[in-house]
Amino acid sequence: VEVVRTVAAFTGRLAAARLEGRDPGLVPTMGALHAGHRSLIEAAAAAHGHVAVSIFVNPLQFDHQGDLARYPRDLGADLEVCAAAGVSTVFAPSVEEMYPCPPRTTVHVAQVGEPFEGQVRPGHFDGVATVVAKLFSAAGACTAYFGEKDFQQLAVVRRMVSDLSMPVQVVACPIVRAPDGLALSSRNALLSDEDRQAATVLWRALDAGRRAVADGEVRPDRVAGAMADVVRSEPRASLDYAAAVDASDLSTPASLADTASVRLLVAARLGLVRLIDNCDARAMAGSRDGCNGAAALLVHGQEGR
Ligand code: PAF
Repeated sequence: VEVVRTVAAFTGRLAAARLEGRDPGLVPTMGALHAGHRSLIEAAAAAHGHVAVSIFVNPLQFDHQGDLARYPRDLGADLEVCAAAGVSTVFAPSVEEMYPCPPRTTVHVAQVGEPFEGQVRPGHFDGVATVVAKLFSAAGACTAYFGEKDFQQLAVVRRMVSDLSMPVQVVACPIVRAPDGLALSSRNALLSDEDRQAATVLWRALDAGRRAVADGEVRPDRVAGAMADVVRSEPRASLDYAAAVDASDLSTPASLADTASVRLLVAARLGLVRLIDNCDARAMAGSRDGCNGAAALLVHGQEGR
């Protein structure tokens, strides 16, 4: 794996790969790589002769300085993961390289980026869209891999690519979960043992939502209420939101019956750690279908890297 630190070197590496007929697959990350990231890298490696991983903790998308400071960073361990997974290029720029001066141009994706995470974390999606636009601009034509774990982020990126005619194909990869249902996230490493146990409440809430849908509930607020009740039953968790939305644009439909694809979203805080999760509302309740990746059963010891 070759590590490049500058935008120019990254652009050059991917241009060279294209010239050699190796179509690049890009996996944008903020590091602290875990099995969820590995599944993105594996999906990219299966389809591309050149896999590039970007590792950059983007200050623009953090609404709290404390959250930015706490975000786990371990470039050495990340490079080991990348080398083992056959990654060709790691782009690991400094903040100064990515933002030589505070940007006056930012990307705002209206509507799809405004509710839920957009409301709880003002400016978050502008920061995400701006850095992803910069990464895409540096990478050039490529296929980019994102996890469904950040479902709203995926919708924001897709919309930005479409609105701005970016030469990037976006591929969504399924969520990878621990055996007890917790979606893998770099933030899980920050949970205390007690909060880690309590964090399964997000998965249980999604399951309650799916059961409500399977039982014929078509009112989004009732499905959301069933999910919220589960989160509120866990004393260590504090609910940010629970919702049943149209998966295509994250709007709330009048009835779930008329909606082709319904996504359940939940966000909650455990101590200082904020977790989000989601699943297909029509995946069978109690199962992992639509809520999980192929690498379903991870043992607890593998949850970190
Ligand atoms: O999902 C992430 O890790 C980040 O939001 C991303 C897409 C790499 C942008 O910083």
